[in-house]
Amino acid sequence: METVSVCVHGASGYTGAECIRWVLNHPRLRLVAATAQKAAGKPLGSLWPRLGRATSLIVGAEPVAADVHLLCLPHGQAALIAPQLEGYVVDLSGDHRLAEPEHSAAYGFARATAPWLYGLPELGSGRYAGVTRVANPGCFATALALALLPAARQLPPIVTATGLTGSTGSGASPSEGTHHPTRAENLRPYKVLTHQHVPEVLRAVTEAGGSTELQFVPISAPLRRGILVTVPLPGADLDAYRRYYADNPLLVVSDRPPDLNAVVGTAFAQVSVVRHQGAAVVFCVIDNLGRGAASQAIANVNLMLGRAVDEGLGAIGPVV
Ligand SMILES: NC(=O)c1ccc[n+]([C@@H]2O[C@H](COP(=O)([O-])OP(=O)(O)OC[C@H]3O[C@@H](n4cnc5c(N)ncnc54)[C@H](OP(=O)(O)O)[C@@H]3O)[C@@H](O)[C@H]2O)c1
Repeated sequence: METVSVCVHGASGYTGAECIRWVLNHPRLRLVAATAQKAAGKPLGSLWPRLGRATSLIVGAEPVAADVHLLCLPHGQAALIAPQLEGYVVDLSGDHRLAEPEHSAAYGFARATAPWLYGLPELGSGRYAGVTRVANPGCFATALALALLPAARQLPPIVTATGLTGSTGSGASPSEGTHHPTRAENLRPYKVLTHQHVPEVLRAVTEAGGSTELQFVPISAPLRRGILVTVPLPGADLDAYRRYYADNPLLVVSDRPPDLNAVVGTAFAQVSVVRHQGAAVVFCVIDNLGRGAASQAIANVNLMLGRAVDEGLGAIGPVV
């Protein structure tokens, strides 16, 4: 089988490590380089001892030529490196998701180029023909969009949602808000009604033919990995959700409330529509580092290469 070479940028970070894991598990992709800034010069195994045959690879300081580049970098850094790169590029940061003025409002600095293809596979695989640049969606944005897309054309004028997230969503650098005594056995709403992923969700809803206003409350939860979003949506119809996602190999639709551990460590999302006496609530669970970042980046590579969206992504997690 012809292999496709991959360079992972930001390999000392959480999404970089997860991208390497999914590349190593993929039948067609071959890791040829991994870069970082402070961690340059170290063997990958000194950062991530569980990365099997990649542990002896030395982390580089500069990008290396490869068929595919995965940018697992802080906002602002990816946009600096991207113009130098040839081949297929997936940006996991927010640098290429939004047009102005939404980008400035969300991230606090202006961007110079047009946004790239928004890499939510559920918006249609036909969009990837001839595309070499994909903006990978944010983690909360992915979960919220998956909860809303089947109902996009029937949304009320205002949708309210809450979302619980694990600490790896904040990246590998420790901060006050991610410190263990702050997060453990605790729940803390943050960025209430101002989270930077809201404009992305609205971009996805618009691309799906709908419109609404989204009022979103994110909550940091005492978990390492995973996202649960909850969206009260009286018009949500389970059969419509099942039809919309019928051929989706990376998403399970259920009429029962979800279980976060069913998706942690996997590339899968679960969307639940739970109805009772005329009311309905939609839930979505994903792994923020999987469907919310790294495995979705690999799905985007698969689609740019003209392959099945789930190639190399079918592994299930621990069952108990
Ligand atoms: N964490 C999530 O759940 C998640 C989900 C979706 C999207 N994202 C987005 O994905 C991006 C990465 O997130 P993360 O959580 O993986 O962050 P992270 O853990 O902080 O990792 C970022 C890595 O980038 C490296 N880096 C910084 N500047 C670099 C440069 N110029 N060249 C090469 N490497 C450089 C750093 O390496 P050194 O430490 O060695 O300097 C660091 O390890 C962010 O934009 C984030 O918003 C994250």
